[in-house]
Order: sequence, then C-alpha cells, then structure tokens
Amino acid sequence: FKEQFPELDFSYTTDIKEAYEGMDFVFMQMRAGGLPMRAKDEHIPLSMGLIGQETCGAGGMAYGLRSCVDMIKAVHDIRNYAPEAWILNYSNPAAIVAEALRREFPDDKKILNICDQPENVVRSCSRLLGCDWENLDPVYFGLNHYGWFTNIYDIKTGEDLLPKLRELIKKNGFLPQDAEQRDQSWLDTYGMVETLMNDFPDFLPNTYDQYYLYPDYVVEHSNKEYTRANEVMDGREKRVFGAAADIVAKQTAKDCGFSTDTHAAYIVDLACAIAFNTKERMLLIVSNDGAIINFDPTAMVEIPCIVGNEGAEPLKMGEIPQFQKGLMEQQVSVEKLCVEAWIEGSYQKMWQALTLSKTVPSAKVAKEILDDLIEANKGYWPELK
Ligand code: G6P
Ligand code: MN
Repeated sequence: FKEQFPELDFSYTTDIKEAYEGMDFVFMQMRAGGLPMRAKDEHIPLSMGLIGQETCGAGGMAYGLRSCVDMIKAVHDIRNYAPEAWILNYSNPAAIVAEALRREFPDDKKILNICDQPENVVRSCSRLLGCDWENLDPVYFGLNHYGWFTNIYDIKTGEDLLPKLRELIKKNGFLPQDAEQRDQSWLDTYGMVETLMNDFPDFLPNTYDQYYLYPDYVVEHSNKEYTRANEVMDGREKRVFGAAADIVAKQTAKDCGFSTDTHAAYIVDLACAIAFNTKERMLLIVSNDGAIINFDPTAMVEIPCIVGNEGAEPLKMGEIPQFQKGLMEQQVSVEKLCVEAWIEGSYQKMWQALTLSKTVPSAKVAKEILDDLIEANKGYWPELK
C-alpha cells in the first residue's frame, strides 16, 4: 500500500471494537475451520461415493453449519459497533449463510451477499467471443452456486450472444478467462460446461451445476485422497504466503507476482456502486420477494439487481421453467432446513436436509454421513439433538 497507494491510511487490528467502530463498509470472507476442515468437507462425502465439495452437497452443508455459528456472531459484533455499515459478504457457503442472515437480521437491508462465479463465467464468455468482458451484460437466475444465464447481451448492439456462445462452446469447449493461472481441477470444472450446455441447451449453466446434474461423473473423476483443499494447501496457499514472506524480506512489493482477479474486483465494484450511486446492474444474492414469480418469496436467490446508494433493487425476472424451478425448490429446501437445524439445534432437520439433497441417495446414507460429519465437526457445530 505504501508503494502503490501512498494516499491510503492503512491499519490492521484483531480488536473487534477498533476494527468495526465507525466503518462505512465491511468486506467479509471467513472460512470457519480453515482449509483443514475444508479437506474434511470434501473427503468425508467422497469416501462414501458422494459429491465432496466445499459448498455443494453434504460437505457444503457441514461448512454451512460452521459458518452459521461464526458469521452470525461476527455480524452481531459489527452491528454493535457500526449499525449503519454496509456489510458485503463473500463467506461460503453463501446460499446457506445468506438464508441464516435473513433469518437472524430480517429487516437489515445493508447486508449484501455475493459470489464472483457468475462474473467469472461472463469473463470466460468474453475470452471465447474475443471481446471485452465489460461489454457483456448477463441475465441470470438461480440460487447461489446453482443458476443459469438466460441471455448474454452485447451492451453496445443489444444483441443476445447466447446462440453464438452455444456454437462456440460446442466447437472450442469452455475455459476460464485466466485459464493459464488455474489448477487442473478448475479447468475440468469449466470443461463440464460443454456437456451441460449440449445436454440442456436452453441456458448457459453456472459451473457449479455439474455437482447436481452429473454427480456420478464428478465423483468418478475425483480423488478422495487428494481433494481441492489439498491442491489449494499445496499450491495457492504456499504461493501466497511465500510471496508475502518475500515482500517482507525484500521490503518491497515490486514484481511480487500478486495480481487482481474477479473475486477482488467484484466486491470493490459493488462498494463503488453503493458509494457513488452508479445504479449499475450486478448479480447479487437477495430475498426473492416475487422477483421470480413462481418461486418461494422467502428464498434467497441470485438475480440481477440495480445497485445504488440505497442498496440493491432486484429486477423482476418473471416465471422460470419447470425443470430449473424443480431443481431449485429441492435445493432451497435443503438450505432452509440446514439453517433451521442450526437455529433449533435439531438433528432431525439436519437429517432431513441431507436426505433431501440431490447428491445423497437415501435417508439411510444421509444418517450415516450426518453421524460422520457430527464427529468431524466437534467444537465447530452447535450441538444437534
Ligand atoms: C469461486 C466461488 C467461491 C469459491 C471459490 C473456491 O470463486 O465463487 O465461492 O470460494 O471459487 O475456489 P478455490 O480455488 O479455493 O477452489
Ligand atoms: Mn461463490
């Protein structure tokens, strides 16, 4: 900061009062239990032949209960010292966290939950189309990590580029915009968009849809002894901490190799839209409230919103098709039951949540996995009775 933004006042603290008091914006991203617990979220379901993913399926639900505990405490702390602050939240699993925050802070319009993945997919489209991603204007609906693009408009001409993209994906496959910086597992994930798009050609899918629509394929191609968490701990985590240690040793950040990605840019764009009242269209996770007419009004959905200094104004999305509606109804019930399990400390509700997940084959398997997850999450989960 001193080198690149000398005009910035920078300070850091682990003191809650000092951190939050008088803040205008709070950016949140916590990982309850850290990467070692992520490894368990992924490993435990995979070792039973089920999807093991940090946000989807049984692992995501385990992480969800941990996040409910830590996030709700943190947001109460923030509200205690900064009742008016905008809270912009990336913490995962964002779908479950958003529902928990809706239940705990029902009238708080200044908590906004976000995810960078739809924007990542839009940027991938720009790579395929050979255009600037800022010229693309997406229309999207779904739950967090479970959604579809209905249109990708060219901002200048108004043309819907989705038909063209469908053909390009068929011909060239699908790669992240920053493919050269990605691990193989992410390239595989983006690669599955081609399959999803060929089999369900109406809309362009979010990359996370693969976990619900092709769980058998994904499990077959996963290594339960070496999951994404292991890849992150051996790769990105070492690189980032190594680069940071290097900066400290050399006392300069010149040529340090850090660069800005979508995840960083998106949350800053959101803060700017609020601070400067830009009224731009951004995809956010908000209470449905009739935006999708034929869907639960109390569901937290991911849809386009106009963002300005009053916050987020969701666009009216109209009706969604039966297929996506059915998938979303099942999954939103899973998410709501997880949050109810946390609120009530209910074993039964968590068992129901797992039973209802599209990634779990039966109530019997759901119970087995729940008992394993309770054991693995001792000290993190509320007690379930
Ligand atoms: C995307 C998702 C995030 C998720 C991240 C995981 O950015 O939107 O919700 O946390 O991927 O990435 P990683 O590289 O840690 O597997
Ligand atoms: Mn996300």
